[in-house]
Amino acid sequence: MSSKDLKMFRVIVLLSFLVIRASSLNNHSFPNNFMFGVATASYQIEGGWDADGKGENMWDWWTHTFPEKISNRYSGDVTCDSYHLWRDDVEMLKHLGVNHYRLSISWSRVLPEGTTNYVNQKGVEYYRNLFQALLDNGITPLVTIYHWDLPQPFNELGGWMNPLIVDYLGDYARVCFQLFGDLVKNWITINEPQTTCLQGYTQGYKAPGYANEGEGIYLCAYTHVLAHARAYHIYDEEFRALQNGTISIVLDSSWSEPASDSDKDLEAAETQMEFILGLYANPIYNGNWPRVVIDRVGTRSLLEGYSKSRLPEFTQEQIDYVKGTYDFFALNTYATNLIYHQIDVNQSIGKASYFLDSGTGSKTDPSWKTVVGWVNDVPWGFRKLLNWVSEHYKRPDIFITENGWSDYTGELNDQDRIEYIGNYLSAILDAIYEDGINILGYTVWTLMDNFEWQVGYSQKMGLYYVDFDSPNRTRTPKASAEWFAGVIRGRCLLDQCEN
Ligand SMILES: *[C@@H]1O[C@H](CO)[C@@H](O)[C@H](O)[C@H]1NC(C)=O
Ligand SMILES: *[C@@H]1O[C@H](CO)[C@@H](O)[C@H](O)[C@H]1NC(C)=O
Ligand SMILES: *[C@@H]1O[C@H](CO)[C@@H](O)[C@H](O)[C@H]1NC(C)=O
Ligand SMILES: *[C@@H]1O[C@H](CO)[C@@H](O)[C@H](O)[C@H]1NC(C)=O
Repeated sequence: MSSKDLKMFRVIVLLSFLVIRASSLNNHSFPNNFMFGVATASYQIEGGWDADGKGENMWDWWTHTFPEKISNRYSGDVTCDSYHLWRDDVEMLKHLGVNHYRLSISWSRVLPEGTTNYVNQKGVEYYRNLFQALLDNGITPLVTIYHWDLPQPFNELGGWMNPLIVDYLGDYARVCFQLFGDLVKNWITINEPQTTCLQGYTQGYKAPGYANEGEGIYLCAYTHVLAHARAYHIYDEEFRALQNGTISIVLDSSWSEPASDSDKDLEAAETQMEFILGLYANPIYNGNWPRVVIDRVGTRSLLEGYSKSRLPEFTQEQIDYVKGTYDFFALNTYATNLIYHQIDVNQSIGKASYFLDSGTGSKTDPSWKTVVGWVNDVPWGFRKLLNWVSEHYKRPDIFITENGWSDYTGELNDQDRIEYIGNYLSAILDAIYEDGINILGYTVWTLMDNFEWQVGYSQKMGLYYVDFDSPNRTRTPKASAEWFAGVIRGRCLLDQCEN
């Protein structure tokens, strides 16, 4: 940017504060211990895909083998190059003034083969330097052990369809606690099994590309839930007393609003929540799969001619092992959908399908603001989701580990992003002060524009713009970065707040 552009940009940033001031946001202060942060994930920002001994993971293999599956045939080979430019990232985090930074460890960077027999010291150094730099600047690392980048040797064994991954994930998690647990006190075992099981193992447009609508999602969910529990118990039994940290799993869900107030649509919306969120949350927070999922998949499987349910059955021992494996509820969310009843449990029997199992249909309201289809600005839906989670999962402390706005342009004057994040933060204040829900923190996805999986670099979600044409991957703050820094300083969405 020229200095003239920069001046203009600053004026626009100032104006954006005036616009926000005129809106109707909640005027409470955020609680003193409320954490503000931003999130990233290893494959999406690091690059250095084969640097210093890193092994190949499932996304390296997928983007290199099927480049046509990614917009513009892009890959994460270099992306934001944070493997080399991590000091720039820390400077940006300091500028924002965040309390925490959510990031993930690349399994193949630490354990190139996936297994624990060979530890890559260069990879270990990379993360230790980064965690230490965060701590030196008063930023709490919130670290995801596994964020979709499965080592390729395990993908060749069937990936998350193969329950053997449970023990491999557990062994890798133990290595993370051993190598980094003196610096990292806040752990996430696994990121968003719902999205990876749906898009990677059911629809197949994300890695590893399994289009298995009948069984994919249930096998994948089964393995993820057990692997999470394994990592949780390892922390609990071998490290917690020494390291005194917290650990949980990140689950993602949109809000399912009934499309009408007919009994069938009310029931369909509840069923949809159980098929999206309950499939993963219920075993962990309440024990076993949700009843409605057991019943519907079981009934349909038998009608379809299977000898037993396509949903794997947990033994009582497994139910007890998984139940209670959380210290808080980590929630990612981006949108609301309108859910309606589509078919009864015994209709449309034929091809086995997760989508027919739930029997629901989904649409959105055309008046809701959206740019990319999967993100819409419906803060009241977010507040309902927070209440649903609180009521269904024993009123856990909730940490929002991802939320944010996507556009196609990466424009610096990103007023839509400011409006969206402001609205969602305001809904959090409503939930805290009016609904009595304990919310620990909020995390913007994402620090900077990055590799957004199958859409490559075409969708931009960063508080910072990244110039992917420059060898330095130059980062420039958008208006939302300055605005978010102001919210964190003031702990308030307006000029003045009530304590
Ligand atoms: C463990 O952490 C909690 C806060 O998370 C703190 O209150 C407590 O004093 C810590 N205990 C030890 C032994 O460090
Ligand atoms: C389908 O199930 C409903 C109850 O859910 C039952 O009343 C109906 O008879 C069933 N239809 C068939 C064809 O089995
Ligand atoms: C990239 O960064 C280096 C070192 O900071 C600097 O010398 C160089 O001018 C930069 N190049 C561009 C194109 O910005
Ligand atoms: C906050 O809003 C309430 C009404 O919603 C108003 O009574 C109060 O004065 C406001 N407080 C501040 C500090 O603006």
